[in-house]
Amino acid sequence: MDLQNLAYALIQVAHNFGAAAVIGGAVAGWLTQRRDVAPAPTLVWLILAGWALQAASGAGFGLVSLAYYGKFPDLHGVAVAALAIKLSCATGGLILGTLLLKRSGTWSAARRRQAWSGLVGLAATALSAAAFLRWFA
Ligand code: HEM
Repeated sequence: MDLQNLAYALIQVAHNFGAAAVIGGAVAGWLTQRRDVAPAPTLVWLILAGWALQAASGAGFGLVSLAYYGKFPDLHGVAVAALAIKLSCATGGLILGTLLLKRSGTWSAARRRQAWSGLVGLAATALSAAAFLRWFA
C-alpha cells in the first residue's frame, strides 16, 4: 500500500468529520436555540473541536507534501484565496465559538442568534471555499 496515499486518506477522514462537525453543529445550534436559554456547552465544544480539527488536519495535508516532496503544494490565484478564506473562517469559528461558550450567559437572545448565524455562515463559507481549493489547486 502507498504510504503517502494512506496518510492523505487518513487526514482526509479527519478533515471530513471536522467539516461535518462545524457545519452540522452550527446548524443544529441555530435550529434549536431558545430565546432565554444559554447554548448547550457540549454542542459548542463539538463545534470548537471541529474547527481545531480542521486547522490541524488542513496543516497535515501540507506536512505530508513537505515530507514527500520537500515543499508545500504550489498554489496560485484562486486556490490561494480559497485557502486564505478557510484559514480566516477557522480563526473566526474558534473565536466566535469560544465567546459563545464563555460569554453567552450574559448575552441577549438576539446576540446569541447572531452568533449562531455567524457560525453557520463561517462553516458554509469554508465548505464552499473547499470546492474552489480542490479544483483550482
Ligand atoms: C483551517 C484551515 C484549513 C486548511 C489549511 C484546509 C486545507 C485543505 C486542503 C489542503 C485540502 C485538500 C485540497 C485538495 O484536494 O487539493 C482540503 C480539502 C477539503 N477541505 Fe479543508 N482546510 C481547512 C479548513 C476546512 C474547513 C473549515 C472545511 C469545512 C467546513 C474544509 C473542508 C474541506 C473539504 C470538504 C475538503 C475536500 C475537498 C474535495 O476533495 O472535494 N476545510 N482542505
